[in-house]
Amino acid sequence: MRDRFGREIDYLRISITDKCNLRCKYCMPGDIESLPMREILTYEEIACIAGAAAECGIKKIRITGGEPLVRKGCCKLIGMLKAIPGIKEVTLTTNGILLEELLDELCLAGIDGINVSIDTLDPGRYKDITGYDELDRVLRGLDRAYELGIRVKINAVSVDWPLFEKGGPDKEEDRFKDAYDLVGLSRDRNIDVRFIEMMPIGSGKDFQAVSHDLLIPAVTGRYSGIIRDENRHGNGPAIYYRIPGHKGSVGFISAIHGPFCDHCNRIRLTSQGYLKSCLCFDTGVELKSILRRDMTDNERAEAIRSGIRDAILCKPKAHSFNRAEKISEKHAMSAIGG
Ligand code: GTP
Ligand code: 5AD
Ligand code: SF4
Repeated sequence: MRDRFGREIDYLRISITDKCNLRCKYCMPGDIESLPMREILTYEEIACIAGAAAECGIKKIRITGGEPLVRKGCCKLIGMLKAIPGIKEVTLTTNGILLEELLDELCLAGIDGINVSIDTLDPGRYKDITGYDELDRVLRGLDRAYELGIRVKINAVSVDWPLFEKGGPDKEEDRFKDAYDLVGLSRDRNIDVRFIEMMPIGSGKDFQAVSHDLLIPAVTGRYSGIIRDENRHGNGPAIYYRIPGHKGSVGFISAIHGPFCDHCNRIRLTSQGYLKSCLCFDTGVELKSILRRDMTDNERAEAIRSGIRDAILCKPKAHSFNRAEKISEKHAMSAIGG
């Protein structure tokens, strides 16, 4: 269905858990208390909302977290969602820690694409950012997923050097070393590498992030012959470039500097059952209480469809990430799913 600004909303992001097996400094530093299980939607409840969403025009679903693969039965849920009439695509965004272990199950469930978060290819810096020395394990999962023919993309939040206690780069050009290393992953394989501008949400507020006003010219200026890639790569807000000789593309999700909201196609369901209209604001519709109200299945389905329509109709024209006083979202990114 279309929102008030004529945008077709056909993509639903579903966060299935607020738990995570990493502790990225800009997302989950230290111990965030996780929600009790009764507060979290069951898979049956999620499938019920997804079914109603499909009737309202949702065609694509992305599973997020926290880290979605830490929730038992995630692959079973993917199978349940794939079976909903009208749902054409179910994809996953993961930190990749459990990817190698669960790939066969994910394939059997029919996963249509996997985005893996890797902010750096330097093992020491990976540990510094995430708290765990697990870069190799993630890269093995990525390699295997690619070999199995799954469409894989990399998500890298552009984290600035002041994050690191052991001093920053000696030279200004080293500031973008993580990005240059990651771009290398797009050379020999058809893997898109996307850089995400840090958003002032949750602990992201406390971080100095690399502005895409600096990163984009630094990356595009480094490769001669690089050109804008107008092909469609997915359903998200990334802007892509092609580097001659590279099989994959390089993308930028410029959350702060990129005015991509004109093409927004999405709503977000939190693991607690709140349907958010925009990442930046707390506006939306509380669906869990509707799900758990005593009524017939038909009444419930109609009430949920009506809630979904309300959430779509209260989508704002654009985010306000560049005006801190306007951001009303107070939850951590791990509770929303990005
Ligand atoms: P593709 O279809 O593969 O392009 O998916 P995607 O980019 O929508 O999904 P993914 O989960 O990989 O998104 C990567 C990150 O981009 C998210 O975690 C968010 O940080 C950011 N992002 C995605 N959608 C939006 C959006 O609508 N607004 C903003 N500000 N950021 C977004
Ligand atoms: N801003 C932008 N991206 C973020 N992520 C987590 N916190 C933030 C933030 N404040 C990213 C993760 C992962 C994706 C799911 O969201 O690094 O790539
Ligand atoms: Fe976990 Fe992703 Fe947050 Fe890192 S960014 S702590 S991987 S949810």
